[in-house]
Amino acid sequence: MIGDISKEIECLKTSVEAEELRVKVFGKKGSLTQEFSKLKDLAGEEKKVRAKELNELKERYTNELYLKTEILKTKELQERLLREEIDVTLFSPLTSKGAIHPVNATMDRIIEYFISLNFGVESGPLVEDEFHNFEALNIQPHHPARDMQDTFYFKDGKLLRTHTSPVQIRTMKNSKPPIRIISPGAVFRRDYDLTHTPMFHQVEGLVVDEIGKVSFSNLKYILEDFLTYMFGEVDVRFRTSFFPFTEPSAEVDISCIFCKGSGCRVCKKTGWLEVLGCGIVDKNVFDAVGYKNVSGYAFGLGVERFAMLIHNVNDLRSFFETDTRMLEQFR
Ligand code: PHE
Repeated sequence: MIGDISKEIECLKTSVEAEELRVKVFGKKGSLTQEFSKLKDLAGEEKKVRAKELNELKERYTNELYLKTEILKTKELQERLLREEIDVTLFSPLTSKGAIHPVNATMDRIIEYFISLNFGVESGPLVEDEFHNFEALNIQPHHPARDMQDTFYFKDGKLLRTHTSPVQIRTMKNSKPPIRIISPGAVFRRDYDLTHTPMFHQVEGLVVDEIGKVSFSNLKYILEDFLTYMFGEVDVRFRTSFFPFTEPSAEVDISCIFCKGSGCRVCKKTGWLEVLGCGIVDKNVFDAVGYKNVSGYAFGLGVERFAMLIHNVNDLRSFFETDTRMLEQFR
């Protein structure tokens, strides 16, 4: 005969015990299996009654044991998870750490500065048309920048933007003054040497407000502060220059961060490094976007130029050759 198996199931403590009991009851030599084999010695009604009884017992014990086993397994899993904590602070000599590309890191730092001064961040398409890239920016048809030698043109007359200044036009067309934005992004020119690559990055800046609210001294103040933020204590000078879309225009130099102004290879013995273009937005640009009675300033800079100076890299192309030995130095 078989004992009270329900009781035994109830008293189980572990899933291993449960498995042992399963074999003891349902296995080849199990107590219930043996009861089933005794059926052959019975006959007629007696056999029928006993078989029904055994089948009912089998079903009951199977269910009870299954349920108990699941409960025990769940409990054991929970206990194991609590026990086997992973120490994520453990040193692992095999991990290799990624790093932010120096151009991206420089870009992030520039953006961070202007965001802290409440500038918004705008972007525009890389494939531009002549209107946004040249015409609206007062760049005349004969201007050399429009030449096939400087600009990548598509068959349909569209082009890869040669600077981020078209975003000035798009932003002014899409919104009303006051405007206070920067626009970071890739630009393209047919150029390839130590300091030029066909693709590089610029950050554009544009501030527009009522007449009298934006002046060259505002521009000068913000750029001096920005350059100190990027390069530390440096002298900053504004040199008269020309851009079709600003009047007056200036190029901005910092005292050479390598020789402190005494003259070296990087500054070509001048003691100064050119880092920015800027100016007061030309009236023709405002006319092109239909703005009246406003004044503004704009500036533009090359991100790779900044990254090269900050990290003392002398071949711009090395930023884009994806040579990990070069990039690993910026971890
Ligand atoms: N777009 C100019 C360039 O690519 C830079 C610039 C921007 C100059 C805004 C003045 C004002 O060289």
